[in-house]
Amino acid sequence: MKLLSGTPGWTTTADVIVIGSGVAGLTTALNLRSHNLSVLLVTKARIDEGSTKWAQGGIAAALGPGDTPDQHKKDTLAAGAGLCDLAAVDVLVSEGPEAVRKLIARGAVFDKSETGEIALTREGGHLRNRILHAGGDATGAEVSRALLAAVQGDPGIEIIEHALAIDALKSASGRVCGVTLHVIGKGSLDGVGRALSRAVVVAAGGLGQVYSQTTNPAVSTGDGVALALRAGADVADVEFVQFHPTVLWRDLANRGQQPLISEAVRGEGAILLNHLDEQFMAGKHPQADLAPRDVVAKEIFNQMQISGQPHLWLDARKITDFAKRFPTIYTSCIANGIDPTVEKIPVAPASHYASGGVRVDLNGKSSVAGLYICGESACTGAHGANRLASNSLLEGLVFGARIADALANDLPGQEQPIEDTKTVLLDPKIVLPLQIAMSEGAGVMRSESSLRKTMQTLQELSKLTSNQPRIEAWEASNLHLLATAIVRSALERTETRGSHWRSDFPNISDKWESRVIESVDEDGNWHKRLEQVK
Ligand code: SIN
Repeated sequence: MKLLSGTPGWTTTADVIVIGSGVAGLTTALNLRSHNLSVLLVTKARIDEGSTKWAQGGIAAALGPGDTPDQHKKDTLAAGAGLCDLAAVDVLVSEGPEAVRKLIARGAVFDKSETGEIALTREGGHLRNRILHAGGDATGAEVSRALLAAVQGDPGIEIIEHALAIDALKSASGRVCGVTLHVIGKGSLDGVGRALSRAVVVAAGGLGQVYSQTTNPAVSTGDGVALALRAGADVADVEFVQFHPTVLWRDLANRGQQPLISEAVRGEGAILLNHLDEQFMAGKHPQADLAPRDVVAKEIFNQMQISGQPHLWLDARKITDFAKRFPTIYTSCIANGIDPTVEKIPVAPASHYASGGVRVDLNGKSSVAGLYICGESACTGAHGANRLASNSLLEGLVFGARIADALANDLPGQEQPIEDTKTVLLDPKIVLPLQIAMSEGAGVMRSESSLRKTMQTLQELSKLTSNQPRIEAWEASNLHLLATAIVRSALERTETRGSHWRSDFPNISDKWESRVIESVDEDGNWHKRLEQVK
């Protein structure tokens, strides 16, 4: 099964294709180069336009005095609500500090305390200050800047911007041996083409645009996970879409990417207030306003239901030097008519992060030979039912390096692709109703009836096919595939755990200490099975 597209008009080759230019893709590319492999790095928009640059809070790593990987592990497991794979968490927390040191060696500059040490702050779910940040609240932008400088200085990495990876190419043996790409380019690489390689690494980020309001940029339409699904790969934990508790609430009519108000603002002392000015998180969880983000998002949702208001408040007025510590947030608040130093910030939850994704092993290997996945597109099992704050940039650093090492040891020769004739393409006009249906029926809170209604809408929308291949139609088709996967898994999981909240099954259940694995076969049929958590 592939997306309907034009006949490829050009071909290029490299040892490894990396799709995506966020922390996961850039780290993988740089580490592949230390093994002397040639890399083709393709990115959907400009090279600096992915999700990474929007990351505010930072990178979690046990680097502070008295902190240990074991304590980081405990917090990660608590947030993951019983669904983390222990081995994946061990890798993340124990290899994390070294991965951060390597990032610093590559040129990333983190904020320092008055004594000249790296300044560490706290976010939801962490029992210690262990979040490194840069430029106050512009950590992702600094990480992106440093890695991009290294990548752009390496002649062994060919970069193609404005390149949407449409589908994986597979050989007769079933191994992924390249991708079809659509490039808005100049000169020889323009339109649909084929890039051939000995392996493909998908590091294409998240799927926040499945919902009406998200912290993710417009490019986050889940293209990488959808490509992997169509190639036959297993996906897991996709029902665990994390809703960030605090995005700046502007208007009900606002759709798409919304300004994030980092958890680090609460880490520095801001408090959540309801419409009666009550500090409602007190008593709800031992960590109160800094409880794991699923707990806070649910409580905010409850408070909004009680008051009938579309948002509540974050009071950051006691933070001294707000504009200096959080320059990005300050600027976006001011641009929206809110001065956070003198007034409360209206906030509401919005989709933020896919804790699940393409199921991979500890070296990023998917269930399809030759296809590796890194970062938000992957399900390593490190996040379980709810990713701990600031573990995502860390995951890209740690697993990007592991994938490069694994590929250096196991990279067969180039195989030739065979033609797949079954195609699908949906009309871009399905996107708006799809996002509305997902936010209403498969958002922060779901139930069997809301999910069935959403599935019915998705089935209706699948009839709106298109025979005009173009970016909007490929994105619409990818969003539809992922929305379907999310709703199917959310229906299956009849319990409440982590960021999956079922109003009709409000409790956690031991029966559900397993992950839902989904896949799509060559004829477009869905398959589902359960996998025991390791
Ligand atoms: C934030 O800054 O609140 C987001 C951090 C994260 O998603 O890990």
